[in-house]
Amino acid sequence: MTKQIKIFDTTLRDGEQVPGCKLNHRQKMIVAKQLEALGVDVLEAGFPISSPGDFKAVEMISKELQSTTICALSRSVEKDIKVAAEALRYAKFPRIHTGIGTSPDHIKYKFNSTPDKIIERARAAVKYAKGFVEDVEFYAEDAGRTSNEYLAKVIQAVVNEGATVLNIPDTTGYCMPEEYGAKIKYLVENVKGIDKCEISAHCHNDLGMATANSIAAIINGATQVECTVNGIGERAGNTALEEVVMILNHRFRGIYQTNIITPMLNPISKLVSDSMSMPVQANKAIVGENAFAHSSGIHQDGVIKHRANYEIIDPKTVGIDHSKIVLTARSGRAALAYRSKNIGFDLSKDELDIVYKEFIHIADRQAEVNDNDLNDMLCSIFKRAI
Ligand code: KIV
Ligand code: ZN
Repeated sequence: MTKQIKIFDTTLRDGEQVPGCKLNHRQKMIVAKQLEALGVDVLEAGFPISSPGDFKAVEMISKELQSTTICALSRSVEKDIKVAAEALRYAKFPRIHTGIGTSPDHIKYKFNSTPDKIIERARAAVKYAKGFVEDVEFYAEDAGRTSNEYLAKVIQAVVNEGATVLNIPDTTGYCMPEEYGAKIKYLVENVKGIDKCEISAHCHNDLGMATANSIAAIINGATQVECTVNGIGERAGNTALEEVVMILNHRFRGIYQTNIITPMLNPISKLVSDSMSMPVQANKAIVGENAFAHSSGIHQDGVIKHRANYEIIDPKTVGIDHSKIVLTARSGRAALAYRSKNIGFDLSKDELDIVYKEFIHIADRQAEVNDNDLNDMLCSIFKRAI
């Protein structure tokens, strides 16, 4: 049977905390509604204790969304948890996300505490949160740099208190995929009652491993992935939603599935990028400007003959009408004939030879030859010929 993987979107929390990505309430609501339409299972709407603005955003989104679980972040501090619960009071499906740092660095330098005291705080936070809502997610911050043995003790304590979701963040993007996968496996094998909980992967991209680590987590038993649109987030970002979803769709078909409506991936990428003024790198997988653009002659010839020669994803499945054949000095005759035909010039072999000679001079002078340049060139050649 195909296993369902839940998509937990944190674009409006971990993503929005990036400098310069701040959204106003109206923009947040637009993004939240689109995320619900996209099919995310859980939407982390903010960190209510952090500011009145974040509190209001969580409250507003809780009132508006109908089918998505709305999650609010808190530290393992009673006041935080109480305020998160208040912000969530109108949510149809509320979830409190509470937690504490568990790595040696966090225990010593952030909390000036001891491993035993941290377990006690984690346990108490989940117990307190359970007084407000049934659905309580616990995060073991910096789990990536926490020993598996100690992490299992922390997680056992919160499972015993009724945590419903166990978030194992690689907060600093430190882990390698085998290591992170093994961590999840260790918890699956060593925490009693974990089979009744969701296990969540929350990865950061400091070494460019966030997506690979999230997939390794799924293979080893994680049932939820925390991610952001375009992979935005602290420092090098979070796991990119579109990447995880398309990997599961393409490489694990029949094994794992999500609820994501994939043709919405590109439109939502643009919405998030435009509203946060956060450009997407051109070569970004799935949603980058060049993700379905072909510019070298060999690739262009191959893709014109048969799209799958150089594309593993049909662009329509992620909301792009068609792949692009970009005309540059590296383009060959096949691309030139194809693009000329698109604008109404069906060239014979001899005509193509003439046009190609002129094209290559123009292409050497500029980065790209667009439809206007091409049209001007073709008109002037054919005018001369007449
Ligand atoms: O990266 C992280 O550890 C987090 C937690 C607050 C969930 O974002
Ligand atoms: Zn994070």
